[in-house]
Amino acid sequence: MNSQEMYEKMKARLEKIVPDVELRYKAEIAVEINELKKQKNAVILGHNYMEPALFYSVPDFTGDSLDLSRKAAQTDKDIIVFCGVRFMAETAKILNPSKTVLLPAEKAGCSLAESITAEDVRALKAKFPGVPVVTYVNTYADVKAESDICCTSSNAAAVVESLHSDTVIFLPDEYLAKNVANETGKHIIFPTLAPQPPLPQAGEGVKGGEGQLDYQLIGWHGRCEVHEKFTVKDIEAVRAQFPDVVVLSHPECSPEVVAASNFSGSTNAMIRYVQQTKAPRYLVLTECAMGDNIAAANPEKDMLRLCMVRCPHMNTITMEETRDALKFNRYVIDVPEEIRVRAYRAVQRMLEIG
Ligand code: 13P
Ligand code: SF4
Repeated sequence: MNSQEMYEKMKARLEKIVPDVELRYKAEIAVEINELKKQKNAVILGHNYMEPALFYSVPDFTGDSLDLSRKAAQTDKDIIVFCGVRFMAETAKILNPSKTVLLPAEKAGCSLAESITAEDVRALKAKFPGVPVVTYVNTYADVKAESDICCTSSNAAAVVESLHSDTVIFLPDEYLAKNVANETGKHIIFPTLAPQPPLPQAGEGVKGGEGQLDYQLIGWHGRCEVHEKFTVKDIEAVRAQFPDVVVLSHPECSPEVVAASNFSGSTNAMIRYVQQTKAPRYLVLTECAMGDNIAAANPEKDMLRLCMVRCPHMNTITMEETRDALKFNRYVIDVPEEIRVRAYRAVQRMLEIG
């Protein structure tokens, strides 16, 4: 495809979303990227939060974290370029270690992944011996290595329930943990790691009035710096103006926001919801590029966005950086083998659940 054809393809999808001059410029870079991709036998995975011009031009596969982990595990290409953030690229390396995994921006972090260390997980395990540890994939490889099983926003409750354990440690997203607690009917606590009297051992719990456990989920105070910003007031303000709006929220939003929404689910689940329902307008409470991407795919539906928040980490993945990643073979993601094999067990166990 030459750059005129690419421009026309992008324009058909993004005319109302991306200024024309930007489309012309980015179409040229997209052609360069696709050429390099062929030459280097690479696959490009694009998270749903990629900006629209990138999202609709160069990825071979787009999707949520779970989806893209599967694609990374299955690819037979030599290079995986991960247009997402570092923890996602690390997960690709954990699952498919013989491939070169490239992250187009060197940092591309995540406030959830930064919120907890492997040392914190070891301290929690020492405090609650024998209690299984579930970690959200939005964590670094050394944290995954300390875990029994991982989860994503699309399978968190199923993963917790699969353990059939009275008590589960669920890390590090405070809001996702509270939403999972609500969904599974579990009571959650947030322990401090400061020295204090010993807590009951696994299986003992703390007895409530009717012999029930007082807590069954043990959480951590990590937050997504994007999703924590949405409030119930935001939803009320939009509903006052558009009473027929259908509100969708990501489970990294607070439980109050999730309760005030019509639907909550992973980025893929929200995309599917809009595709498969027929409301006149939707409010999507998640990273704002995804609102643009859904709007582009559903031109007949009105997509309201509270676009005050672009994830600063996803935002570092640009078309220029993606081209340069392939051109200069950068930034290579490596996970020490001793950590990788332990993290692999936790991620693979999750993939077996679905
Ligand atoms: P998904 O797994 O739903 O794509 O979410 C990833 C993420 O980082 C959300 O902020
Ligand atoms: Fe992390 Fe939030 Fe950005 Fe997702 S949106 S990558 S959870 S900071």
